[in-house]
Amino acid sequence: MSRKVVASAPGKVILYGEHSVVYGEPAIAIALSKRAYVTVYPSSSSAIEINALDYGVKTEFPQERAKINVEHEKFKILQPIWEACLQVLEYTSTKQGLKIIVKSQIPREAGLGSSAAVAVSTIAAVGSLIEANLTPQIISKLAYEAEKIVHKTPSGIDNTIATFGGAVLFQKGNITKIQIGKNLPLVIGNTGVKRSTKQLVLKVKSLKEKYEDIVTPIIKNIGLIIPKALKALNEGDLPTLGELMNINQGLLDALGVSTKDIAKLIYAARSAGAYGAKLTGAGGGGCIIALTPPEKQNKVAEAIKREGGEPIITEISLKGVKIEEK
Ligand code: PMV
Repeated sequence: MSRKVVASAPGKVILYGEHSVVYGEPAIAIALSKRAYVTVYPSSSSAIEINALDYGVKTEFPQERAKINVEHEKFKILQPIWEACLQVLEYTSTKQGLKIIVKSQIPREAGLGSSAAVAVSTIAAVGSLIEANLTPQIISKLAYEAEKIVHKTPSGIDNTIATFGGAVLFQKGNITKIQIGKNLPLVIGNTGVKRSTKQLVLKVKSLKEKYEDIVTPIIKNIGLIIPKALKALNEGDLPTLGELMNINQGLLDALGVSTKDIAKLIYAARSAGAYGAKLTGAGGGGCIIALTPPEKQNKVAEAIKREGGEPIITEISLKGVKIEEK
C-alpha cells in the first residue's frame, strides 16, 4: 500500500436556475477553479484522525458510525469527512485506520459546494490508498450518500460537479454535461452571511402558496432563461450571458431570496464593468457571481471588497476529481 495519497476536487456555482429547479425547471451549474485538497495516510491505529487545517479543528473518529462526544461546531466541519471515509470503507468492506488532512480554497456554508468537494476528494484519496479502483461514477455516488446523511436532501448537483468538473444541465434529477465555447471569467463575492438553503426553499414555497398565480409565472420565466443561456454558453457570448444573469437576479429578487448585502455586491460588480451579476445558490446571504471581461476581474474584485464582500477571482474548471500525488 502506498504511503500517502493527495486528491482534489472543485467547488461549484449555480449559473442560472436556483429555486426554480426545485419546481422542475432546468438549472445550469459549473465547476470552479477553486478546489479542496485531501491528503490521506494509512495509520497503524484503528482510528480515523481528521485534521481540517483551515479551521484548526482535529479529532479522532472510530471506523464505524457511533455516537461520539465532539463539540457541535467541530462536528459540523468534520462529520462529512468522517462519513465520506465510512462510505468507502463500507463499500469496499475494508478495515483501515486513516490519517486525513483537509485544505480547501472553497469557503464553507456559502453555496459553493465545499462539502461535496471535500467528500469527493476524500473518497477518491481513500479509494486510491486502499487500491479500490473506484470509478468516477462510484465516487460521485458515494459522495451523494455521504451528503445525504449530512444534509438530508442534496440535489446531486454538488457531488456531480465536484466529480466530473465542467458544466452541467440539471432538470428533474437528470444531470447532463454541457459544452462551453469560451472560458468564463468570474468573480465571486461572499457576503459572509450564513444562510440555510432549507429555510430559503421554504420561504419561496410559502410565497408560491400565497400568490400562486404571480409566483408560478416567475418560476417559469426563470426556466425560460436556460435554453437561451445554453446557446450563449455554446457560442461563448459573454455579454448575453451577463444580461441573462441580470434578468435571473431580478426574478430571484421577486421570489424574496435576495438581500441588501447581496444587492450591494451585485451593483458594485455591475458598476465596475461586469457583464452581469446575480446571487448564486439559495440566497439570503452567501455569494454573488459576476461574469466579467477578462481584463476587468481585478477591478470587479476590488469593488466587491470596497462594499465589504470577500472577492474570489475564478473561472470555469474542466477538471473534476483528480489524484494529485500518489
Ligand atoms: O446554496 P446551495 O448550493 O445550497 O443551492 C441551493 C439551490 C436551490 O435551488 C435553492 C435548492 C436546491 O436544492 O436546488
